[in-house]
Amino acid sequence: TGDAPAAGMAVTITAGPTREPLDPVRYLSNHSSGKMGYALAEAAAALGARVTLISGPVNLPCPAGVARLEVETALEMHEAAMRLAEQSDLFIGCAAVADYRAEQAAEHKIKKVEGEEGLTLRLVKNPDIIASVAALPEARRPFVVGFAAETRDLAAYARDKLTRKRLDMIVANDVSREGLGFGADDNAALVLWREAARQEKASPEGDALAEEELAPQTKSRLAMAV
Ligand code: C5P
Repeated sequence: TGDAPAAGMAVTITAGPTREPLDPVRYLSNHSSGKMGYALAEAAAALGARVTLISGPVNLPCPAGVARLEVETALEMHEAAMRLAEQSDLFIGCAAVADYRAEQAAEHKIKKVEGEEGLTLRLVKNPDIIASVAALPEARRPFVVGFAAETRDLAAYARDKLTRKRLDMIVANDVSREGLGFGADDNAALVLWREAARQEKASPEGDALAEEELAPQTKSRLAMAV
């Protein structure tokens, strides 16, 4: 219908940062506000989709009509994403997932050691959530949209991520631009997608890429445009 172009579509969106515990009182995280992912969830719901937001810890209310699953760590987000992705038509990875976690979170608070100037933490890689979703067998695989926050060579890095993670579409934004991106209310983006997306016969590397530049605007308007 005209009002609800996404009626009945099942959409899963990851948003916000993840939080990786070091000990019972400390963690590794990043400055993701979750605003872009939440704006996408709101836009998809307004277009008639059934939306589930898998959210890391943020200070935002759950948009009306959206189901929210709250997680903390990348492993929890990965588990929730793999469970929901197979029943989704569209999966959008907007979360700023921590690349690494502590190999083993300490059971008790890590204490300062007298006479030691340094402390070495052993980190291990977290799973790449969106790449795991994109690697699902075709019959159970949603259309996969990723984000790329870059400070230079936007188009080249975005193209590389789209290919490497086998995404169908990527929304790239330059986070070094004043007032845009991380934590801000506004964003601008370069959107790249495979012309032959979902046609498995064409090699992912061989697909022609289409692109569209979206001018700076509020994250709500940008979410609608995407
Ligand atoms: O590699 P990079 O982190 O820049 O890629 C960004 C894209 O990959 C985003 O869509 C982000 O949500 C997703 N991602 C993910 N799991 C990770 C790292 C990134 O889903 N462990």
